[in-house]
Parts: sequence; structure tokens; C-alpha cells
Amino acid sequence: MNDFDYLGEGEVYLDAACQSLRPRPVIDAINDYYTKHNSCGERVKYKWGRITDEKVDATREKVLKYLRLKGKKYTVSFTLNTTYGINLILNQIDTSKFKKIMTSEIEHNSPFLGSMAFSERTNLPREVMKRNEDGSILINDYDFEKAIVVVNCASNFDGRKLTNIEALNKAVHKAGGILIIDAAQAMAHSVDIIRGVEVDAICFSAHKLYAPSLGVIVWRDELDKVLLPYWLGGGMVDDVKKDSYTLSAANKEHRFTRFESGLQAWGEIVGLGAALDWLEHLSKKDWAMLQENTRELYDFLKSSPKVHLVNNEPNPTMSFYVEGIDSHLLGEALSRENIMARTGYFCVHYYLDHVLHLPPLIRFSLGLHTRHEDIEKIKQVLGKIIN
Ligand SMILES: Cc1ncc(COP(=O)(O)O)c(C=O)c1O
Repeated sequence: MNDFDYLGEGEVYLDAACQSLRPRPVIDAINDYYTKHNSCGERVKYKWGRITDEKVDATREKVLKYLRLKGKKYTVSFTLNTTYGINLILNQIDTSKFKKIMTSEIEHNSPFLGSMAFSERTNLPREVMKRNEDGSILINDYDFEKAIVVVNCASNFDGRKLTNIEALNKAVHKAGGILIIDAAQAMAHSVDIIRGVEVDAICFSAHKLYAPSLGVIVWRDELDKVLLPYWLGGGMVDDVKKDSYTLSAANKEHRFTRFESGLQAWGEIVGLGAALDWLEHLSKKDWAMLQENTRELYDFLKSSPKVHLVNNEPNPTMSFYVEGIDSHLLGEALSRENIMARTGYFCVHYYLDHVLHLPPLIRFSLGLHTRHEDIEKIKQVLGKIIN
């Protein structure tokens, strides 16, 4: 695709699950911010500031549109990344309203450790739920009474999805709990799983969505009822007296300030808006290319006798190890051929190491930048190494 024309011949980037490559229009939007309207958002009255405000507001709307959620019920706040978003919510929850915290075994360390730290700090018990091979949770096996549930809706090692997310959301709400979704891996290539599902909060990283480095929390306004604001600072208040203050978030129009203390990454927010426009305008051919490349690489790995693939089905993110070859050494060997892949446990230590007892893995994560010749090169180079 032309929008990644800076990618050199023979450079094979297989780490989109960590950070997508950014398409030209996103890079241009950030450049425009710095060169044409570099200014603070939400505060300034001069012309550049107004341009920034318009673009930042538009990005909030585009995020909701992309997720098929309504602005009447939901608010978009910007943060640093998924990890920060999850921890920011957990650190401000009114613990008197809940009985426990629940997560699942296939989580990235971001919710896994975040929920552990929450439990240690609050003394509320923590439960780690099992996930089926199709990514679903056996809802009837668990009691969600007044539970804070924080789970992903797509994994970062094989892309498996929370296939019964709607049912889980219903069960958690019925039991007086809240559901926080880690959508870091779903947003770029599996957004259908979360679209229109009215969970309490969705945390994601724009840098995995073809956008600049940025975090986003999309949250149901009712979540505010169970939060105790204490992470405070600039841009969050309407009035401050000697010993008291009025939060701007009390006002629906400024509710986004709830999680936005201090200045934000305005250029990156503008870039996220450009990324969402870019995604909306992709052709069926662009998506078909990603699907075909994924299928071809999956089939190759699946049919290689020494390759142990974690995936049960094709997904742009696939993890495996090769019998008799250390994954880290393999990663280095691939790097010498300009093939850039990740090795290790990808921050899913508990499940991959202590539940599945797998050796360190290698992860190939494809994206819309992936060319067919990249797949041919991987097959040729990896085939040679394995044999
Ligand atoms: C499923 C999942 N959750 C959370 C994260 C954490 O994202 P970040 O490091 O951007 O906070 C990642 C990062 O790879 C992820 O894949």
C-alpha cells in the first residue's frame, strides 16, 4: 500500500501488535499540527488553539463512531496508553461499592498486574478466570456479584477474542458489577467484537491502531458514580477555593476532563483522528490483502513439521516456537535478514509460561502495511533456517 512507501525493500515489519506502522496521512496530520497550529487544546482562545480544539473534538466523535457508541451515554478521554488507562480507573474506584476484582488467565500484564496491585492495595479478593480456546469465558462458572471485571476482548499472542462479550456484559451488570475491557488488540483488526457493546469502559492504545502513541478511555457516564476523583491537576476544574474545588467533569460537556489531568498530547490526538479517517476509507482490497497474507503465513507455519503454533485459527497475530531452536536466537537470525519479529512471552508470562508451560515464543504480527513479498520472504528465510 502506498501509504507505507517509506518501508524499504526487503524490510519486513512483523510487530504491528506492539505498534502499527503509521500511514502517511497520519504522519502528515501530526506534521500539520506542529507546523500549522501548534497550540494547547481546550484552553486557548487564539486561532491556532481553535483549530486544535476542532480537531480534538472531532477525534472524540470519530472514536465513538468507530466503536458504534453514542455520545449521549459515552465519553472519550485521552491518556498515555492502555496500561495507564486501566490503572487510572482502578486507582480511583470507590472500593466500598465492590466485593472483588476479576481478570482472566490470558491477559497482558497490563490488566493482570493492574488487578493484582489493586487487590493488594485494597484487600479485595482477586479471581483469575479461565478462557476457552475460542476466547470465551464460562460465565456460569463464576459469581460476578459486585465484581470489577477487567479482561481483554482480543489477545496479543494469538488474537483469540472474547466471543461471548455481550453475555458477559449482561451477567456482570445483572450482578451489580462493572466490566472494563482491554481493547488494545481488538481496535485495529478485530473491532467488530466490541462495536456497540455497552461495557463500562474500553481502554486502548492508539499506537496499535495506525495512530501515534496515545491512550484512550471510552467510558460509560455512569462509571462516574463509582469513582473517587483524586488524580487531579490542570484543566479539570471550574472553580478552586482555598480548600475545595468544583470538577469540570460534573458538566456533561466537559466530562472528558475526568481522566485528563494536565496538558494532553494534542498532536497525537489529531493524528488519531487522521488514523480513524484513514481506516474508514480503506478499500475491501486492502482488508482482503491482510486476510490473504495472514492465511498464507498461518498455513505455512501450520504445515511446517517443527513449528508449534499457539493459534488455533488464522489471525494477523500468531505465536509459535520451533522445536530445537531457541526463539530469541531465531529472532536474531531473522533480524539479520531484516525480518523484525518479537520473541519471549509478550507480557503474558502467567498464561504462556505457567499455564501452558511453553518455551519463549516468536510472534509475527501483520498489519495493513504487510506486502505479499514480505510473506514470501518469511517463508523462504524461515524455511531455510528450520530445515
Ligand atoms: C492486550 C494488550 N493489553 C494491554 C497492552 C498494553 O498496551 P500499552 O503498553 O500500550 O499500555 C498490550 C500491549 O501490547 C496488549 O497487547
